Amino acid sequence: MATPLEGIALALVEGAPDGVVVSHDGTVLFANEAAARMLGYESPRAMEGVPLSQWLLPDEAQEMGRRIHAMLTTGARFPPREYGARKLDGSPLRAEITSTPFLWEGRPAIVAFARDVTERSRMQARLALTDRLVALGTLAAGVAHEINNPMTAVHFAAEALERSLVRQLRPVPPEVTTLLGDLKRGAERVTSLVRDLKQFSRPDDEQRRPVTLRDVLEQAVRLVGHALRHRATLTTHHAEAPAALGMPGRIEQVAVNLLLNASQALPEGRKGNRVELRSFATSDGRAAFSVQDNGVGISARDLPHVFEPFFTTKPVGEGTGLGLAISHNIVTQLGGELLLESVQGQGTTVTVIFPPASSAPIIAPERRPAPAGRSATLLLIDDEPMVLASLRAVLSDQHQVTVCSRVQEAVALLESGAAFDLVLCDVMMPESDGLVLHEQVRTRWPQLAPRFAFMTGGVLSLEASQRIEASGRPVLEKPFRPQAVEALLAMLSPEG
Ligand SMILES: Nc1ncnc2c1ncn2[C@@H]1O[C@H](COP(=O)(O)OP(=O)(O)OP(=O)(O)O)[C@@H](O)[C@H]1O
Ligand SMILES: [Mg+2]
Repeated sequence: MATPLEGIALALVEGAPDGVVVSHDGTVLFANEAAARMLGYESPRAMEGVPLSQWLLPDEAQEMGRRIHAMLTTGARFPPREYGARKLDGSPLRAEITSTPFLWEGRPAIVAFARDVTERSRMQARLALTDRLVALGTLAAGVAHEINNPMTAVHFAAEALERSLVRQLRPVPPEVTTLLGDLKRGAERVTSLVRDLKQFSRPDDEQRRPVTLRDVLEQAVRLVGHALRHRATLTTHHAEAPAALGMPGRIEQVAVNLLLNASQALPEGRKGNRVELRSFATSDGRAAFSVQDNGVGISARDLPHVFEPFFTTKPVGEGTGLGLAISHNIVTQLGGELLLESVQGQGTTVTVIFPPASSAPIIAPERRPAPAGRSATLLLIDDEPMVLASLRAVLSDQHQVTVCSRVQEAVALLESGAAFDLVLCDVMMPESDGLVLHEQVRTRWPQLAPRFAFMTGGVLSLEASQRIEASGRPVLEKPFRPQAVEALLAMLSPEG
């Protein structure tokens, strides 16, 4: 017969919402209902005699062993600690565990109280990632602004250098051609890295609209299909699905990132490499797509880090570690979800789910006219002398180029009656900015308004980007190539 106190103790332990586990020498002697539920056992009895290392991840089991040893030998106490474990079915569990030594039937034992904090730690990880992405966004905005102006100069200077060498040295020595190629490729890489970083700080200014995933995915496959088919059999399956609410360009970027990751995870030359791309409707009626590969998979150690910016397991030059971080950022900004499942040695599946769109019609993309090849008069306004000098060096081969480093100078020029085929003006400048100049042009020289365009280096404030959008004028994002100016010219003054 149990004493009343023993009865209470038993009821407390058996009915406790937290798991209670008594162990000796790392093996379970007793567990309560809650412990069994937490680990996925049918009854607490089934846990008896099982070693703790059955559930604890290897590193965690070692740490727990170290603490238990210290507790038993020195009587030391430890604060609660979060441990990583796996349930009976292999799914991950995070438990906060407090343990105390005591005597069980005359033997030194440990009683552990365990609380399931899987959801809490998932939330914390998500919040921490969001925080880091916000910080990265702020940094990226600053870096992009500082890098894009000099990079525009680099692109244009390389072009100018090449043209002048071709004119002066005939033939151009092969080593010079190689060096020029290196210069351009290096510049390209910096440009694309900065473009990637800017994703984190872009104000959410682009219009969301209903997107047919199938079309976007087919476009993504066109972009990376070549690299992919080289390594694997790509199968696509598009099931009936509602339109997704989003931005096609960014969804395509996500798909491209995921397809590239899948392709890079496949051992080169192995038979049976597969990538499957599907679009479908989720059971609750949302549009979704998934990319599945049977590649190397991701280890349990790396899995919690793959969404962190700059986390990569790829060699230098092959991966930057931004693909998943950017994709995650894009999808959550759109109000969707990006889920990744991976088993090391078996493969990875990434599923992207979007919020549903109403049945609004899909707007067709604009067509761009081809560049023309005639001579034109250009007015360029930028406060960065390096940008002006390099633009002029290239563009004055074919056009008459006038440059101004301040808005007031440009206004004085226009007041004197000068006419231009294209006015290309930087947005952010000290004193007076590009939006002010555009406003003046619109009211004082309306015939010039349709030939006005902006160029911009950094990430604009939401207000500035809204004002630019309202102006309806085209924008060149720095760094741009000489061809972009030609295309703009052809579009704005097609008949010459
Ligand atoms: N399909 C996949 N299979 C195996 N590992 C993957 C897969 N997708 C991502 N990973 C792992 O996650 C890491 C981060 O991926 P992420 O796309 O963010 O960067 P990256 O591919 O290394 O570089 P980047 O995309 O910037 O070129 C990869 O280095 C790789 O270890
Ligand atoms: Mg990647």
